[in-house]
Amino acid sequence: MVARLFVLAALCFTLVASAPPLRTLPLTKLVDHSKLKNVVKSDQARAKGLKNVNKGDTEREPVNTFANGFAYVVNVAIGSPASTYSLIVDTGSSNTWIGADKSFHETNTSILVSDFVAVSYGSGFFEGVAYVDQVALSDDLVAYPQVIGVAGISSGFDGYDGILGLGPTILTNGTVYDFELVDTVVDTLYYDGHIPARVLGAALAPLNANGGVGSLAFGAPDPSQYTGLLSYTNVTKAYPSSLYFGIDLRFDYGPRTIGYGSGIVDVGTTIILLASDIYEAYANGTGGVYDFSVGLLRLDEEGYNKLQPLNLRINGATYELTPNAQILPRTLNVEVGGDEDAYYLIVADLGYPSGSGLDFILGQSFLERFYSVYDSGQNYDNTDSRVGFAETKYSFSETN
Ligand SMILES: *[C@@H]1O[C@H](CO)[C@@H](O)[C@H](O)[C@H]1NC(C)=O
Ligand SMILES: *[C@@H]1O[C@H](CO)[C@@H](O)[C@H](O)[C@H]1NC(C)=O
Ligand SMILES: *[C@@H]1O[C@H](CO)[C@@H](O)[C@H](O)[C@H]1NC(C)=O
Ligand SMILES: *[C@@H]1O[C@H](CO)[C@@H](O)[C@H](O)[C@H]1NC(C)=O
Repeated sequence: MVARLFVLAALCFTLVASAPPLRTLPLTKLVDHSKLKNVVKSDQARAKGLKNVNKGDTEREPVNTFANGFAYVVNVAIGSPASTYSLIVDTGSSNTWIGADKSFHETNTSILVSDFVAVSYGSGFFEGVAYVDQVALSDDLVAYPQVIGVAGISSGFDGYDGILGLGPTILTNGTVYDFELVDTVVDTLYYDGHIPARVLGAALAPLNANGGVGSLAFGAPDPSQYTGLLSYTNVTKAYPSSLYFGIDLRFDYGPRTIGYGSGIVDVGTTIILLASDIYEAYANGTGGVYDFSVGLLRLDEEGYNKLQPLNLRINGATYELTPNAQILPRTLNVEVGGDEDAYYLIVADLGYPSGSGLDFILGQSFLERFYSVYDSGQNYDNTDSRVGFAETKYSFSETN
C-alpha cells in the first residue's frame, strides 16, 4: 500500500508546471491556564520522547501534558461533508491524526487503510487505525489523498482533537502497520501540485505581541513575516537529531562559549532545553537560581539587569536572544507557580549531558523571536533537508 501511494505521488509531482501563489494559514497560540504549572515537566517528558524515537512505546505516561499549556493550533476540515478538528501544530512529529477529543465519522472520502497506527510522544500517545481522507487546511490547501490516524485511545491531548504532523517524513517510519513511510500533509500538498516545494515557514509571535496569532506558509517562506536575511543550515548528521529538523550550533552567553552540539527545532516544545553541562554553564553565567516550584532559573531585578545576550551561532549566522527574550512573560509568573516580582529564565535542563546527539531543543520561546523555515528537500530520508532562520519584528522587542 505504501509503495503504491508513494509511486503515485512521485508521478504526480513531475507534472507540476508553475509555482502557485504563496499559501498561508493563520495559527493561534492557545494558553491553557490549568496546565501552566507543568510547562517544564512536560517539555522534559516530550524531550525524552523525542530522544527515544524508534524505541517503541516504553515512554507512555498517562499524563495530560503534551500541550502543556501552550500550543499552536489550526482548524482543519476533514472528510466530505467535512468536520472541523482543532489540531496541535507540531514539527517534531509527522503523523497527522484526530480523534483525541471530537470523534471521527467516515464520510464519502474516507477509506480505511490500516488496522493499526501508534505514535508515542513522551508526554502523550495515541493508538488507532489509519484512513486515507481529504484534509483541508483551507479552501486552497486541500491534501488528498492523505493518510490520517484515527485514535482509538490517546493520552495527553485534553482539549485538542489531535496533531497536524509537520515534521520530516522519515519520522512516520513504522508508525502505520503495513506501511513503511506515509506522506505528511506537506508531502501530499507538494505531490499534488498545490505547493512548489516541501517547505514550511513558521511565523510565531510572543504571547504578549500580536495576540498570540502567527502564521504558517506552505511551499515557500513568507517574506512579509521576516526582516533581513534568511539563512539556511543543513539538517545535522547526528542521530537522533538527524531524524528531525535537527541542526548543529554553538551557544555563547555574553562573550563566553557555553556549549555546542546537535539538537532540534520544535514548534511542539514550549521553551528552550539544553543538555545539563550547557545548562549549568548558562545558569552559572546568568547567576540564575533554580526555583523548585517552577522548575526554572530565577533572577531578581538586579540579576535581570545584568543579563547578557544568549547567542546561537548557526552555520555562520548569529541569532541573539536578548535578555527580554530569555525570560518568561512576567504576566505568567504566578500561574506557573512563581513569584510575581521575579524573572524566570526560559532555558531549562534536558537532564543528561551533551554528546548524545540531542543536545538542545529550540521551542516556541526561540521560534517566537525568529522566523523558521523547514525545507524537506527531495529525499524521503531527511538527508537533504535544511532549516532556515531570519529575524522578525519581534527579535528585539520588549514583550515579556
Ligand atoms: C456524501 O454521500 C451522501 C450519501 O451517502 C450524499 O448525500 C452526499 O451528498 C455526499 N456528499 C458529498 C459532499 O459528496
Ligand atoms: C524504516 O525503519 C526500518 C526499521 O528500523 C528500516 O529498516 C528502514 O530502512 C527504515 N526506512 C527508511 C526509509 O529509512
Ligand atoms: C562560572 O562563571 C564565571 C564567570 O561568571 C566563570 O569565571 C566560571 O568559569 C564559570 N564556571 C563554569 C563552570 O562555567
Ligand atoms: C549542505 O548540503 C548540500 C547538499 O544537500 C551540500 O551541497 C552543501 O555543501 C552542504 N553545506 C554544508 C555547509 O555542509
